Amino acid sequence: MSDISYRDLLRSIRPPKTELPSFDTAAAPDDPIALFLVWTASAVDAEVSQLNAMTLSTATRGGDPSARTLLLKDVTDAGFWFASLASAPKGEELAQNPRAALTLYWREQGRQVRVSGAVKPGPRTVSEQDFLARHPLARAQAIAGEQSTTLPGAEEVAGLVASASELIEVDPLFVPADWTAYVLEPISVEFWQASGHDQIRLRYTRSPGGWTHQLLWP
Ligand SMILES: Cc1cc2nc3c(=O)[nH]c(=O)nc-3n(C[C@H](O)[C@H](O)[C@H](O)COP(=O)(O)O)c2cc1C
Repeated sequence: MSDISYRDLLRSIRPPKTELPSFDTAAAPDDPIALFLVWTASAVDAEVSQLNAMTLSTATRGGDPSARTLLLKDVTDAGFWFASLASAPKGEELAQNPRAALTLYWREQGRQVRVSGAVKPGPRTVSEQDFLARHPLARAQAIAGEQSTTLPGAEEVAGLVASASELIEVDPLFVPADWTAYVLEPISVEFWQASGHDQIRLRYTRSPGGWTHQLLWP
């Protein structure tokens, strides 16, 4: 065991001096996507670091959960978009149990957004556009080996990545069949704002008649 104490490290942290944004819940729009875009614009203005990095939580059919960081690629009327390989563990879990939760935390603004709903693969053209927008090395890595399987030795990896890079050079529009843009259609979106020692929570819930929203106990 290390002689570094986690609790001592926490005690040594100085509280951040940033001023948190206000959250006027009485003026909240009827549609959570509209509020999400307003919050994102505010995060862009505040130069929040990696504001599109989010936690994607999935579960197997049997309910075993897993979570990892992914990039939020777009938000449209269809929902929240992300992309990955359908053959990777998260893709297999989504095939078994096509529901997920997304969590974004913008620490500079003391804000969290939680989204949950059903997930489905988007149109093939969206997957292709997403893959082709990636850096050539990222494309080569995705082609070279199966995500989340054991990495072979460095020489073998270099050879596989070099072959994949050659393939991209010969066919710049090559997209692996299982590269998938997924869209999560939200049924619940919660906005959480730290405010001094208080927290404000506003949850939107989708019902047959449209979205409703209510404040929650923090
Ligand atoms: C900031 C950040 C962004 C990431 N974005 C993606 C992404 O958009 N797609 C992806 O497949 N993996 C992304 N990853 C890697 C995943 O966290 C994860 O390691 C990988 O997708 C394998 O997950 P799985 O084994 O649960 O399928 C990202 C990791 C970080 C830290």
